[in-house]
Amino acid sequence: MNFSVRAADKSRIGSINFDDLQFGQDFADHMLICEYRDGEWKTPEIKPYGPLTFDPSLSALHYGQSIFEGMKAFYKDSSTVHLFRVDDHYERLVRSCNRMVIPAPPREMFVEGLQKLMELDYKWVPNRDECALYIRPFVFGTDPKIVARPADSYLFLIINSPVGPYYKTGVKPVTLTTSPEYVRAVKGGTGEAKTAGNYAASFKPAKEAVNKGFTQVLWLDAIEHRYVEEVGTMNIFFKFKDRLATPALSGSVLSGINRRSVLELAREMGVQAVEERISIDDLFAAQEKGELEEIFGSGTAAVISPVSTIHHEGKTIDVEMKEDSFAKKMRKAITDIQYGKVHDRFGWVTPVKVG
Ligand code: COI
Repeated sequence: MNFSVRAADKSRIGSINFDDLQFGQDFADHMLICEYRDGEWKTPEIKPYGPLTFDPSLSALHYGQSIFEGMKAFYKDSSTVHLFRVDDHYERLVRSCNRMVIPAPPREMFVEGLQKLMELDYKWVPNRDECALYIRPFVFGTDPKIVARPADSYLFLIINSPVGPYYKTGVKPVTLTTSPEYVRAVKGGTGEAKTAGNYAASFKPAKEAVNKGFTQVLWLDAIEHRYVEEVGTMNIFFKFKDRLATPALSGSVLSGINRRSVLELAREMGVQAVEERISIDDLFAAQEKGELEEIFGSGTAAVISPVSTIHHEGKTIDVEMKEDSFAKKMRKAITDIQYGKVHDRFGWVTPVKVG
């Protein structure tokens, strides 16, 4: 595919403290940008990262026609960068686009664009444990019109941010509370899509949870307010004595890429890994019987986050934080593949030659 490439005159990398990376605050020298107009995607440009200018009437700002992906590149060695599960991320991007009536950027633009960005900005992939280059592809409507209908014009961008561990304090147990009032998503709504509004709608309940002393919200289903769906911005897993379980994709749960990785790796480890309906009452019952061993969240940004506490309607589940936890084993299994420390027997990694 044809790309127009303009390299930055001078790299900004010298101003970055790679020993103290904050999530999503610094951006690599280059970005990909491509316009959709007159019914087609134009030639993608790779150019220095920088501000965009647009009309105050930009349609995405008013009606939220905006979707994104979150993926990562890892430092393998001085001449190789690993992109993780590129096809899965592209396919989810397409599904999000379809749900929000956005034309999906072509696969070659996504895949080759990522490779070109890695070739230019490989020095931004941190060579540190627990660190990565977080890749943020996104698409949004750009019509300069406040008419409530799908836009005719769009922008697709990929920007990249060197990141350290998602939680600054290290992988520390997450405490959860259900929200008595709010839900994240409902079947038939947009919960399955990675669209901006889902995140905006989660901020108020998340803030209330933090004000009550919890880290994040445990999202329950919107109809019966009984079935567990997600945690914060992650999928959730429960390690019971006899199986590892995660909520089934009910139409309101985001199909996480690491969710899939955890299920596949657990099966490889010989653990029965299932997608099922999990009610909050079942969790209390399992804990009562001593069958609930661990709880953890999975996501691209945080990888695996152990959960220590769930609070629901005045009752609490506490799980023991073990040194040799399944969550830790799972985190290592995923990151070992990502950094190329072990053979990638699943074909998840796309190596990009750099330098
Ligand atoms: C991810 O885990 O990549 C996410 O999508 C969370 C994001 C809101 C930082």
